[in-house]
Amino acid sequence: MLEISERTKNLGTENAFVVLKEVNDLVRKGKNIVNFCIGQPDFDTPEYIKEGAIKAIREGKTGYTPSSGIPELREAIAEYFSETRGIDVKPEWVVVACGAKPFIGYTILSVTDYGKGHEVIYPNPGFPIYESLIRAYGAVPIPIPLLESRNFSIDVDYLEKIVNEKTRLLILNSPHNPTGGVLDRKTLEQIADIVKQYDNLWVFSDEVYSRMLYEGEFTSIASIDGMQERTVIVDGASKTYAMTGWRIGFAANERLADHLARWVTNTESCAPHPNQYAALTALTGPQDDTKKMVESFRKRREIIVDGLNSMEGIRCLKPGGAFYVWPNVTEACRLVKAKDSEHFRSRLLYEAGVAVLSDIHFGHKNEGEGEHVRFSYAASEENIKEGLKRIKAFIEENSI
Ligand SMILES: Cc1ncc(COP(=O)(O)O)c(C=O)c1O
Repeated sequence: MLEISERTKNLGTENAFVVLKEVNDLVRKGKNIVNFCIGQPDFDTPEYIKEGAIKAIREGKTGYTPSSGIPELREAIAEYFSETRGIDVKPEWVVVACGAKPFIGYTILSVTDYGKGHEVIYPNPGFPIYESLIRAYGAVPIPIPLLESRNFSIDVDYLEKIVNEKTRLLILNSPHNPTGGVLDRKTLEQIADIVKQYDNLWVFSDEVYSRMLYEGEFTSIASIDGMQERTVIVDGASKTYAMTGWRIGFAANERLADHLARWVTNTESCAPHPNQYAALTALTGPQDDTKKMVESFRKRREIIVDGLNSMEGIRCLKPGGAFYVWPNVTEACRLVKAKDSEHFRSRLLYEAGVAVLSDIHFGHKNEGEGEHVRFSYAASEENIKEGLKRIKAFIEENSI
């Protein structure tokens, strides 16, 4: 019999794509759905960026590039990282890939060995690909709980307890998907103090939402004394410039750059040539579109947080960044007799025509945390208001 490997059978996924298929099937059948599932800006890529790619195509920039990316783009990224993180990043330390996502796997592969018991700490709830790839690549996933009572920040005492000599990698994600939580400088300094006690402990700092911050200034752990050399800084064009489909992400680390580039050679070869020019245009062009986009997310954040908090059975913290909210719906589940957040999610979709994701799509439930769902508010104000109206009516009509 032709067998499928255990590794593949056990491979995790991003359930956003699975739920999206469910949503699309309903839409095809004529059902009207307000969609809060999608983790991408609802804006089109700005015209000047598209023009950058079109010009590159016309000039024949359509071939393979060096695996680490075209030199002009690596320079622009080095400058961007240096300016926005307040550190010195050289172009040789930068690698470009097809999105930020591939760097999750490349970094795990670069700093852990299969089956050696190397541990990787990752946020829970969190972007599901972290745990999926840690497991698939033969390392040991160690979740660190992000709790509502701590504003979804990291409990450094807990971190101190779970880090040990076998820990090879700490994955951080701020601003955070799915909670919108932000790690402030003080917390990052405390994390850095723990990390620096271990000679062989790397940090993967997933900063893809670094520009979507609503209060204060963005801080990268790489900017804390002694942390840059062990931190892989990761960002990308997807969220910042509404370019998810262009597949351009970038990472920087002096020691790892050549190794990450070799993983690119072994897998993608290189990021698409014209798209690298689009990213170059984005990084070096006017930043007004990004600013406008972030301002509209800020406004929508107010609408969705206030709207959810005005509903019986829902409690929602105001997130500091990204474009997600992670309301507690424990009481709403009880009111409508949904057995858990996943049942609640499914009923919202089929009975109320509102698509969200549930906490089981972002890892294991943390004890005592209750039920949560995730809304992406990268949706128009009109749709947000309509979605909120439907949820309110659903809860009222189904309450016991
Ligand atoms: C936390 C986080 N990291 C990485 C990614 C992947 O981004 P990219 O499109 O650059 O691969 C996402 C996308 O949703 C994300 O939420």
